[in-house]
Amino acid sequence: MGRLFNKHIIVAISGGIAAYKSAELVRLLKKSGAQVQVVMTSGATEFITPLTLQALSGNAVHQHLLNPEAEAGMGHIQLARWADALLIAPTTANVMARLAQGQADDLLTTLCLATQAPVLLAPAMNQAMWTDSATQANLQILAQRGYQVCGPAEGEQACGDVGAGRMLEPSQLLHALDKQFEQGLLNGKKVVITAGPTREAIDPVRYISNHSSGKMGYALAAAARDQGAQVILISGPTHIAVPTDVTLVAVESAQQMLAASLEACLGADYFIASAAVSDYRPAQAAEQKLKKYNADHGLNIALIQNPDILATMAQTFPNTTHIGFAAETQQLITHAQTKLKAKAVQMIIANDVSDPSIGFNSDDNRVSLVTADGVDELPLLSKPALARRLIDAICKLSPH
Ligand SMILES: Cc1cc2nc3c(=O)[nH]c(=O)nc-3n(C[C@H](O)[C@H](O)[C@H](O)COP(=O)(O)O)c2cc1C
Repeated sequence: MGRLFNKHIIVAISGGIAAYKSAELVRLLKKSGAQVQVVMTSGATEFITPLTLQALSGNAVHQHLLNPEAEAGMGHIQLARWADALLIAPTTANVMARLAQGQADDLLTTLCLATQAPVLLAPAMNQAMWTDSATQANLQILAQRGYQVCGPAEGEQACGDVGAGRMLEPSQLLHALDKQFEQGLLNGKKVVITAGPTREAIDPVRYISNHSSGKMGYALAAAARDQGAQVILISGPTHIAVPTDVTLVAVESAQQMLAASLEACLGADYFIASAAVSDYRPAQAAEQKLKKYNADHGLNIALIQNPDILATMAQTFPNTTHIGFAAETQQLITHAQTKLKAKAVQMIIANDVSDPSIGFNSDDNRVSLVTADGVDELPLLSKPALARRLIDAICKLSPH
């Protein structure tokens, strides 16, 4: 029996041309044994009739928020509670904008605010509408708030354009819904991970940075995702592909990384700080490129300390479990234990960066896990294998 059997699924349809594909999705869901309720915006009813969806779902279609009959029993709240998952397919640019604003001006948007169930979005629109900066800004907001974005795919569009904006196929959306009910160690958990180096501007063309590749943080993001977590990866500049189903927030400086972390950590269960954050930054980044003057005069750059991201996060989000990394060249465990206490975090993953075969840019790493309970030394492992071990260990930390 499939994972969707007897699950309560709301398929919400907004007013896009891809609405016709949602009929097939509802049929596939019913075939999988799911119970399906369909919600339609008034725009959606211009593209496909409620009668079709009623026949396929076996239930009357919900269309109106201000419906005295349905609302006699607080219909919209009941429906929000009934759902195990809510998928908006297609999600129009207009619905994305309304959700990003937190609006509740029709049944669909009100349900999204009222439900505790995961909300999946299947955007579908003309490629220019999709790449428009307003839509992309709304996408960022929605992904950060925990909406799961499925697609869009690239290809030929109904309007004749070619590009990104096609709704995923019904079978792919069925798979995305099915994945919601996978039993992972981090099912339903939100994990925020920082990765890579930071760049601290000296002038418009130069910066201070370090050798961090980001490999460890990206591997952790993939491992957390594999355990069912919703993962936000806040990354400095790297050359690594973002793991699928992981939301990337790209930053450059330590200050940007802190701001992004503070925003992403609302409601997060875990914060894993694997980024190599520059401890210092130039006190003032020059507005114009610094010129070479006299060879006899060196260049002095005054540096000031960057904020301590991990310590700030631990202070600001006491209900989140915090995990930090300590890259040390000497007295590894002692320094890690000091860091554990000073930053008031639950685990420090300590690695010896004086050994060139492990750490920063290599594909392998050997670390020690330092907690209040003691020290656990792990063997030399590839970063993906190590990431899986670390996620296992992190899941065993007692929540607080
Ligand atoms: C023929 C036609 C096709 C449309 N297709 C889309 C679409 O694929 N995606 C989209 O975001 N908007 C599309 N629109 C625009 C939406 O229908 C419009 O923004 C509407 O206000 C959406 O309402 P709703 O989001 O409340 O359903 C289309 C409009 C027309 C006339």
